[in-house]
Amino acid sequence: MLNGKIALVTGGSRGIGSSICLELAKAGATVIINYSNSKDSASKVLEEIKNNNGSGEIIGFDVSDSSLVDQSIKGLIEKYDKIDILVNNAGITRDSLFMRMKEDQWDEVFEINIKGVFNCTKNVVRTMVKNQYGKIINITSVVGEMGNPGQVNYSSTKSGLIGFTKSLAKELGGKNINVNAVSPGFIETEITDVLSDTIKNKYKEIIPLSRFGKAEDVAKAVLFLASDDSSYITGEVLKINGGLYT
Ligand SMILES: NC(=O)c1ccc[n+]([C@@H]2O[C@H](COP(=O)([O-])OP(=O)(O)OC[C@H]3O[C@@H](n4cnc5c(N)ncnc54)[C@H](OP(=O)(O)O)[C@@H]3O)[C@@H](O)[C@H]2O)c1
Repeated sequence: MLNGKIALVTGGSRGIGSSICLELAKAGATVIINYSNSKDSASKVLEEIKNNNGSGEIIGFDVSDSSLVDQSIKGLIEKYDKIDILVNNAGITRDSLFMRMKEDQWDEVFEINIKGVFNCTKNVVRTMVKNQYGKIINITSVVGEMGNPGQVNYSSTKSGLIGFTKSLAKELGGKNINVNAVSPGFIETEITDVLSDTIKNKYKEIIPLSRFGKAEDVAKAVLFLASDDSSYITGEVLKINGGLYT
């Protein structure tokens, strides 16, 4: 399905990102696994890909560091001659009630969740336009659609990504580049591990499918949007949330 395609996944070392890497590699793509702090986890993802006869490499950079991103992605394009698929998955939370939120909690989340997407996308767009082919998939969140107390910073970045996706889809549609977002609900990863059992149970009561999702559920949606099966879909936000916000 993705044979011959080169995919870059930011934050591919853990959680949802690692499942996306495995899923794209299983479909035949060469997967470049970006990490920031978790080099060992990224190496394990690559090892699993190779054990399943897939191909790829790991690359360390902080998505918010624009000069490092420029340099790293330029190097990848020189090596592979193109990037066909970009999954902007790297993201963080710095939760606090708004009244107590510090400026650095606001700035850090914006630097990674929004500026990081700008940095990576800016560097792949030119090669995609040249090749008249590209798939850009941004990982937003249900929280960007419905809001969440304690996450004004995070939900603002995730709503922002929806605007980013829809606007860029309009700019790049004529170049055969699809720009879409996947919006996960509550998914079992380290981000949701920090929630107390009481809060988890409260959410499960309002999720029609009565459970949190798995990283693979999100990865399968990303694979669909990365493949030509979705070639007439752009500017869309695909919700993977167990019916939480439909
Ligand atoms: N889990 C959920 O319920 C949920 C729901 C909706 C949306 N999402 C979104 O899904 C995405 C993945 O979330 P997750 O739950 O898988 O989180 P996670 O388990 O905490 O993993 C976060 C990933 O982002 C990477 N990352 C963080 N800062 C980075 C930076 N500055 N540069 C490059 N990579 C960076 C981490 O890499 P290192 O460890 O190498 O630093 C890690 O691979 C995020 O965008 C998140 O907002 C998650």
